[in-house]
Amino acid sequence: MEYRRLGRTDIAVSAICLGTMTWGRQNSEADGHAQMDYALERGVNFWDTAEMYPVPPAEERFGNTERIIGTWFASRKKRDKVILATKIIGPDGRFKTIRGGNNKFDRRNLLAAIDDSLERLKTDYIDLYQLHWPERSVNAFGRLMYQHHPEESFTPFEEVLGVFAEAVKAGKIRHVGLSNESAWGAMSWLKAADQGAGPRMVSIQNCYHLMNRMFEIGLAEVAIREQCGLLAFSPLAMGTLSGKYLNGARPEGARMTLFPNFPRYMAPRAQEATAAYVALARKHGLDPAQMALAWITGRDFTTATIVGATNLDQLKSNIDSAEIKLSPELVKEIEELHRIYTIPVP
Ligand SMILES: NC(=O)c1ccc[n+]([C@@H]2O[C@H](COP(=O)([O-])OP(=O)(O)OC[C@H]3O[C@@H](n4cnc5c(N)ncnc54)[C@H](OP(=O)(O)O)[C@@H]3O)[C@@H](O)[C@H]2O)c1
Repeated sequence: MEYRRLGRTDIAVSAICLGTMTWGRQNSEADGHAQMDYALERGVNFWDTAEMYPVPPAEERFGNTERIIGTWFASRKKRDKVILATKIIGPDGRFKTIRGGNNKFDRRNLLAAIDDSLERLKTDYIDLYQLHWPERSVNAFGRLMYQHHPEESFTPFEEVLGVFAEAVKAGKIRHVGLSNESAWGAMSWLKAADQGAGPRMVSIQNCYHLMNRMFEIGLAEVAIREQCGLLAFSPLAMGTLSGKYLNGARPEGARMTLFPNFPRYMAPRAQEATAAYVALARKHGLDPAQMALAWITGRDFTTATIVGATNLDQLKSNIDSAEIKLSPELVKEIEELHRIYTIPVP
């Protein structure tokens, strides 16, 4: 396993990060525990979760994935072997009972969310504490073009960083990171930190895969120049890039079969693009999912590719992808397809 520096910290994280968001819904506690055992054995020391998980989110299941990680820490006693990332939800109409439904990044919410996560995770500290999505409207979760909403207000970045500074001082979190953030947002957070408001963001966790390369437009340069690398989520476009849904197939128990509420992944243009990438992988003798993952891990702005799996065979294959280096010819052919299918799944 290759390890990379997390932002400007002295922490080395595995280039493959273990995603957890199916545990507690598609996967049981025992499945989650088996995945953590296996991942750690393979050198995957970087794990990503969120207070909101499992997905699809529901208030009655809120925090259950963190609880599964917590029981693993309690039974395995290996907290020190793991670099653990979690996240606080941002404003969202779906979570009316969580901390009274005000999901702003104000002091009360931030401190309460950190304490609640620590309790569920049965740990004293979180290595990377991330803002799951901004308080502002951004291009994420299917939105392609920026629309300005002058009426929107958000907690000043300096104020949020001040609270994070307190939490770092208290030993509850070690570092902070962004998620679903824009180039303007990332640079504003970094500027505020550089001016002394609080800790510097060390990573940007955004959606990134062969059919959604929005990160490259503004954020790739930020990631490299500011040493605030990408943690790529949904690297298989929710599993679709494996090719298993092509030609109308709906494998039993698979995410898109169970939760058919992601039409953009199944749209005709997305299916065409998927078929083209799958054919390209096969032409080069590669497994399509492994090609999709290896391509992300190989990008110069990527710190880690966050893989998700619902069974150990998938997890093994996804971790194995870290050993695959794509040839320059194959990368060139990926670029040619990208010119045809630029952002089929925003
Ligand atoms: N910050 C955010 O807003 C955000 C959003 C989403 C995810 N995340 C993070 O990123 C992680 C990964 O996201 P994701 O689950 O959407 O990633 P993904 O790689 O796009 O999809 C993973 C899913 O694809 C299927 N799959 C995985 N490996 C496969 C393989 N080798 N062959 C065939 N199918 C395979 C599995 O589902 P089935 O078996 O059901 O098909 C698996 O759950 C999450 O766990 C979470 O930690 C963060």
